[in-house]
Amino acid sequence: MCGIIAALSYNDNISNNLISALERLEYRGYDSAGIAYLDNNSSLQRIRTVGKVQLLKETVERQQIKSHIGIGHTRWATHGTVTEFNAHPHTADGVAIVHNGIIENYQELKKGLVNEGYVFESETDTEVIAKLIASHIKSGKTFFEAFKQSVNELVGTFAITAIYEKEPHILLGAKKGSPMAVGISPDKQSGYIASDAVALSTLANELAYLEEGDIVVVKKEDQILYEIFESNGQKIRREIVPNKVSLNDVSKNGYESFMLKEIFEEATVARKTYERFNYNIDISKFNNISIIACGTSYYAGIVAKYWIEAIAKIHVDVEIASEFRYRNPVLTKNSLYIFISQSGETIDTLCAMRLVKEAGIKTLALVNVDTSSIAREADFTIKTEAGVEIGVASTKAFVAQMLSLLMLCCRNIDIEAIERSINAILNGDHDIAKLANKIKDCRSLFYIGRGVNYPIALEGALKIKELSYISAEGYPAGEIKHGPIAIIDENIYTMALAPYDKYFDKTISNAREILARNGKILLITTNDAKNFLHGIDKNENVECVFLPENNPLYLPFSLTTFIHLLAYYTAKAKGHDVDKPRNLAKSVTVE
Ligand code: M6R
Repeated sequence: MCGIIAALSYNDNISNNLISALERLEYRGYDSAGIAYLDNNSSLQRIRTVGKVQLLKETVERQQIKSHIGIGHTRWATHGTVTEFNAHPHTADGVAIVHNGIIENYQELKKGLVNEGYVFESETDTEVIAKLIASHIKSGKTFFEAFKQSVNELVGTFAITAIYEKEPHILLGAKKGSPMAVGISPDKQSGYIASDAVALSTLANELAYLEEGDIVVVKKEDQILYEIFESNGQKIRREIVPNKVSLNDVSKNGYESFMLKEIFEEATVARKTYERFNYNIDISKFNNISIIACGTSYYAGIVAKYWIEAIAKIHVDVEIASEFRYRNPVLTKNSLYIFISQSGETIDTLCAMRLVKEAGIKTLALVNVDTSSIAREADFTIKTEAGVEIGVASTKAFVAQMLSLLMLCCRNIDIEAIERSINAILNGDHDIAKLANKIKDCRSLFYIGRGVNYPIALEGALKIKELSYISAEGYPAGEIKHGPIAIIDENIYTMALAPYDKYFDKTISNAREILARNGKILLITTNDAKNFLHGIDKNENVECVFLPENNPLYLPFSLTTFIHLLAYYTAKAKGHDVDKPRNLAKSVTVE
């Protein structure tokens, strides 16, 4: 949710670096974008545009900016509509700030500032921060002191960076609840503060991650350097870690979108996850396992429930983090609590994990970004090996999550069989684009499946929704007749996930119930089912897709690649931006 970047340099072409970082941060939000900078006369300037960073880039390039200090922002709107006046940076009396997070007491602060005579131009919670800093400067404080005092008065979550025209040699940043990293360029000529390592991938080789309550000052002395202060004002050294994000990770490498590139990495990711899995967690010690996550990560948890209960015979609960954290859950010491997150920054998952930690119970995180807040705060972390995932729709990370969870309960895995089956979808002759054309104009869709195919149905429906904006529901196939079947008519497509496994006959019966109501079926099955279709494939309302047969344990992997590609082609057929679907952001750092 919102990407922030700040840069201070000896060079005066800082705007190029701000824009390139914003392009890489765009996955965090793309409602509007903006930069603020000090020009050669140290006067504060601001450029903001509504929409994607590309528009800001074109505007900035036309202006041929010369500046050595500036901040930038790409927004996912929380308070206030998507307009230029709500776009960041926000300013007051020569101060400019960008913010990621939510200020909960902004109304109260705003009242005081309005009484002081400040006039607000936006509907955002963020603008109070700029005015608050300006107000403290007016009362005689230095920029740093004014910033520090303002941060202490804020309630909520934030990562903030600020510049001030009367102190043109320092950048300030503060972190509480939202991620923030600081780094210096290898030639020590530039310093940066940003939301994440991806933003700084071509700018800084080493990073320090701020901890809760930290304030960072980046300044120009003989060289560019930074100092970090804890909330009690003490100077502190935070561990410096290599920035592992490479240019390759943040490039499309010839694919037309990050999403397609990332789906095509699913087999490699499965292999890497298998080869690098060296965690010795004995889950048999626990009476119960609770898995907590959001979105696609939550669905990986449900897949794991089917596996762990069947293989390890341990009871598993799977919960949505935003519900878990507020429902006063009964926590038990002999349970294993697993938190799954690609980004490692999802605020609900992070807060749910903190709740468990506060009860004195050890936590295990399954996280793709090993420098993220969840990875750093968990007692134990399993790193999923998906690599950097940029497409807003999570794809290859889901594969890595499923495989890691499978390996928690079963080490004897035939990885070649998994790889082969994913590659057979990626390189096979299924005309998925043609199928996508059939469903793209549907009013709504169902995905149905039984057993472990049910969470894959949930994942399939989520991907259709978020990329194609078609109302889609994932359902246990046996549950359709308990209500949803009322929706079925000749305009509704149902994707039936029915590989030839122990649920096959039952799912086929459910598909027939839908056909009896004139619904259309896309039957996604496996080659070994061909002799058992009993004519359903001949029905004019049925389209069949045959995937390679496999050990039923591994079928979720090839089904996943198939549903990801189907969602991709459906969104493409509708002309949507698959990497940046409307209204979404990849990293959900607000509640
Ligand atoms: O980074 P996380 O795995 O914690 O993110 C959880 C969800 O926000 C995420 O899976 C979301 O649902 C994706 N857009 C799904 O494609």
